[in-house]
Amino acid sequence: MKILVTGGVGYIGSHTCVELINAGYEPIVIDNYCNAFPEVADRVKAITGKSLTVYDADVRDRAALDRIFTEHKIEYVIHFAGLKAVGESCSKPLEYYDNNIYGTLVLLEAMRAHGVKRIVFSSSATVYGIPVFLPFTEEHPLGNTTNPYSTSKFQQEQILRDLYVSDNDWTVVILRYFNPVGAHDSGMIGEDPQGIPNNLTPYITRVISGQLPCVNVFGNDYKTHDGTGVRDYIHVVDLAKGHVAVIDKLQKPGVFTYNLGTGVGYSVLDVLHSFEKACGHDIPHKFCPRRPGDIDEFYADSTKAKNELGWEAKYNLDDMSKSCINWQTKNPKGYRS
Ligand code: NAD
Ligand code: UFG
Repeated sequence: MKILVTGGVGYIGSHTCVELINAGYEPIVIDNYCNAFPEVADRVKAITGKSLTVYDADVRDRAALDRIFTEHKIEYVIHFAGLKAVGESCSKPLEYYDNNIYGTLVLLEAMRAHGVKRIVFSSSATVYGIPVFLPFTEEHPLGNTTNPYSTSKFQQEQILRDLYVSDNDWTVVILRYFNPVGAHDSGMIGEDPQGIPNNLTPYITRVISGQLPCVNVFGNDYKTHDGTGVRDYIHVVDLAKGHVAVIDKLQKPGVFTYNLGTGVGYSVLDVLHSFEKACGHDIPHKFCPRRPGDIDEFYADSTKAKNELGWEAKYNLDDMSKSCINWQTKNPKGYRS
């Protein structure tokens, strides 16, 4: 079965393409390389032994989409393409809404025109906003978002729900990811943020490799077990396998929403200590003021994914730390190594 994977050479997309190929599916990628590297396709081939078809194009380019849907019998779409930096979205809201919202609209229109009505959408735990209760279940209230990135995810979800109401033939699967970290066991693909990383684990690996001097721990006065922020970190390979479980199990029409997390919350210091264990030495860090917009803690209830998809996360925090270090060690400059 051919699956169109938008943003398929990005961080989560590349790991998902590997798992799709391993499961016997044929991913066809569209990516404009605004946050990805051409080397990824070769690395996916080296891991799987299969070539990855990649169209260097934008999802907002309707003609490019028409060409792909004409050239391939696409049966499912996994939609990763989009901009994802929370902080940047506050200074570039129009760029975020244009890429994320308009991109999704163009994609859905093209799908409808070509009679392809099955989509998996990359949403985020940030659609839940400030927790009313924890762990987050899929029934937690939505939309109390704090930045344009998260608002765009909430709005894209709503567009998909409305689309289903208008036409009950659609299969809409909304996956709310918690905090994806780690890299493929081979160390051949991983997360390669440009510039200084915003996210915690790529920042830690750059401190370990000596590219940055010290980890800045944002806030130590949160209402958590050690005062630092708590998140539900999920190994990117577990996350990738969640997409395969969806494609395997969900062919019927409807709107299906799942949290993909481990259900366990770890603090910034827990993560730091796990990385210290993995690299065998202390990691320099200092406490800094809270980062604006951050929440004390959140973590998932992923029981629904377990019961309905037969999926659950297998990797633990130490596995994630080791895999980040393995990727960093084998690729000190990421894909530019
Ligand atoms: P990523 O930036 O590595 O991957 C996104 C890919 O989409 C990149 O390869 C980029 O070049 C491509 N892209 C962006 N805009 C495009 C466009 N208009 N046309 C074609 N390609 C385009 O990000 P990721 O971490 O792999 O995230 C994938 C998806 O998951 C995103 O939608 C993101 O918002 C969502 N998500 C990510 C996280 C996370 O922490 N990584 C958490 C929750 C949700
Ligand atoms: N943190 C630090 N120092 C850093 C970076 C982060 O202390 O240098 C802390 C943050 O304050 C937070 C935790 O580490 O407590 C995790 O922060 P990240 O930036 O790694 O991740 P976020 O939880 O802020 O957000 C991430 C993605 C979003 C996604 C969300 C889903 O960036 O795109 O997870 O849960 F939507």
